[in-house]
Order: sequence, then C-alpha cells, then structure tokens
Amino acid sequence: MIQDIVVYPDKRLKQISKEVTQFDETLHTLLDDMYDTMVSKKGVGLAAIQIGVAKRVLIINLPEDDNDDVVIKKEDTLEIINPIFLSKEGSCKHQEGCLSIPGFYEDIERAKKVIMEYQDRDGVKHTIENDDFLAIALQHEHDHLEGKVFVEKLSILKRKKFEKEWKKKYK
Ligand code: CO
Repeated sequence: MIQDIVVYPDKRLKQISKEVTQFDETLHTLLDDMYDTMVSKKGVGLAAIQIGVAKRVLIINLPEDDNDDVVIKKEDTLEIINPIFLSKEGSCKHQEGCLSIPGFYEDIERAKKVIMEYQDRDGVKHTIENDDFLAIALQHEHDHLEGKVFVEKLSILKRKKFEKEWKKKYK
C-alpha cells in the first residue's frame, strides 16, 4: 500500500532507526509498502523512516536501462535490513536527490567503493560490494537510518541557499 512520504524538515527524519529483530509478516508488509511508495514517486531508494517507521530497513531499485525501455521489476529490488558497512574506500561526487526533499538535487561527495553486510527479509545474511551508483545509493539510504539527510553534507553556503529556497517553497 502506498504510504505518505515524510518531507523535510519533519523531525522524524532525525530519528535514529532501530535494529530489526523480527523477520515476520509486519516486516514483509513494511517492505511491500516501501516498494509501492517508492515506485509511485518514481524513486530509486527509500528508507523506512521516510514513511515514518524508525526501523533499520532500506530498499533500492536502480532501473535497468535496456534500449530506452526503463523497466522496474519488484524482484530486482534490493531489500536491506540491519546494514553495516564493512569498508568504504575512495571518493566520488554524484548528483543526489531524495523523496523527502522533492525537487532538490545537488552534487554530494561519497565513498567510491563500499562493502556492506545486511540481512534480507528472512533474516539471512548477505554481503554486497559495489563501486558504482549502487554504492552511492547505499550510503544515501544508510544515512537515513542514522537520522541524516543529504543536504547536511552541503557546504555552509549551499546549505543556507537551500534552506532559504526550501522555506519559500514550503510555507
Ligand atoms: Co533520501
């Protein structure tokens, strides 16, 4: 079911999400709701807190670009629970956006290569390694679990400009 997205500067986005201990129907419904919500907003990633649930759960679905046909398949969705970075290396800059900060995009510096350990919806442990756009998405979504949003990584000047524009837009 599609849920409402928590929009910046809602205080809930500052919450530190709690570890998942039960890999049950409640978790599966949460994951399914997150998928429906993300797809309805044409997003590529979503953390549970963005629909108001402070659990260490995130999903990512980077559409495959085969011959102009952008196909989003539910089975391609990475469902990541209780993620831990085992390593972060190098650095890169890429434009980011966020469903909780709609319409705002900016270049953000992140690690280039990450290795992450996580559990799937059944609690089975996996390790993922990436040095491409997925690495950036993992870092962006993981920040949400720590109560952080990407605009916090902007320079002071850019942040001030953003806050000013945002207030105008949402008041
Ligand atoms: Co986000």
